[in-house]
Amino acid sequence: MTSANAMEKETPGLEWTRKDFPLLHKLIKTGNKESKLIYLDNAATSQKPLAVINTITDYYERYNSNIHRGAHYLAQLATEAYENSRKKIAAHINANENEINFVRGTTEAVNLVASTYGRKFLKAGDEIIISALEHHSNIVPWQMLCEEKGCILRVIPITDTGEIMFEEYLKLLNSKTKIVSVGYVSNALGTINPVKEIIAEAHKVGAVVFIDAAQALPHIKVDVKDLDCDFLGFSGHKVFASTGIGVLYGKEKLLEAMPPYMGGGEMIKTVTFEKTTYNDLPYKFEAGTPNIEGGISLGVALDYINSVGLEQIAEYEHKLLEYGTEKLTAIDGLKIIGTAKNKSSVLSFLVEGTHPYDLGVLLNEQGIAVRTGHHCCEPLMNRLGIPGTCRASLAFYNNFEEIDLLAEGIQKAVKLLQ
Ligand SMILES: Cc1ncc(COP(=O)(O)O)c(C=O)c1O
Repeated sequence: MTSANAMEKETPGLEWTRKDFPLLHKLIKTGNKESKLIYLDNAATSQKPLAVINTITDYYERYNSNIHRGAHYLAQLATEAYENSRKKIAAHINANENEINFVRGTTEAVNLVASTYGRKFLKAGDEIIISALEHHSNIVPWQMLCEEKGCILRVIPITDTGEIMFEEYLKLLNSKTKIVSVGYVSNALGTINPVKEIIAEAHKVGAVVFIDAAQALPHIKVDVKDLDCDFLGFSGHKVFASTGIGVLYGKEKLLEAMPPYMGGGEMIKTVTFEKTTYNDLPYKFEAGTPNIEGGISLGVALDYINSVGLEQIAEYEHKLLEYGTEKLTAIDGLKIIGTAKNKSSVLSFLVEGTHPYDLGVLLNEQGIAVRTGHHCCEPLMNRLGIPGTCRASLAFYNNFEEIDLLAEGIQKAVKLLQ
């Protein structure tokens, strides 16, 4: 079997980026000792580069101010930085600036579309399609909408390898289908869905498509025009920016046709007690004081990943995934859950005779951070007939040596548990 050293030499990878992430160099408390941190929980949240951390500190030290409303110097600086970030985000996903709505994260993006577009345009008997792979945040808002409006939720089945059954999807589509909402990349299994084809088929029956890109942005190039998606949401904290910030992209004509989500300051043009008129896009969907430093940090985080290079990231992470798959499959009794052909860098697994939670606890004692459980995908776990998995999710700053340590760590843990 190939060794981490050999792989490191053959694929120098993106080791140089590690110096930019202070938390990767911290020792963590594991029982009564301190261990080197091996952070393999990137699908839950990513670590932040210094560029992002410094941007947030700089905002509070130099130009903290509310945006858009003030004529004073600090307000101008903050507004400029915030709006400049919107420009960067738009360029990054190939959208227009007024199609970028700042929200709290992917969850809010889905809820916004369900509550505004869904409430206005769907009626009893209409159908919404999701897939069996979805995160709860791309299930529950649609269920709530169905309950309220009398719509029907349809679910695209998946194969045992964790891939969408495309033929079954085609059978679900019909003139009653109004919304199709699927994830680009599965957080639990890593499956990369054929979203471009899913979108094209949905459009043939006149449905609009929401793409949950929470797990796509950190790993692959996302181009909303090329995909031709109608809506797309993602979270800043998974793409190396801060928590509490995210983006809802929507096609301008759809956003224009939708009622506002929340009422309050900023989203209005004029207010009288008789009538309020709403602001232009994107402010119509941005009521109240936003997460200003979060918004600014998101632009900086995207600058950072562009400086590393999305192609380089995808290529390197694929090698890490292949190496990890080989190492982990070699462990007695270990089964990788999710073996789609097109996969991002997620290694979900179970080991015969052990519970994923116990494995996670024993890995933690060795300084290895993985996630255990259903990963907010209970229906997916039910479909696979398992209680949950142990999940190692990789980012570009992970390396081959960390995968060796994970494999050794699992073996040590299994010995203790069996
Ligand atoms: C695929 C997917 N969709 C949606 C979400 C929800 O993201 P957030 O909690 O940042 O709103 C997550 C978070 O794990 C996710 O992995």
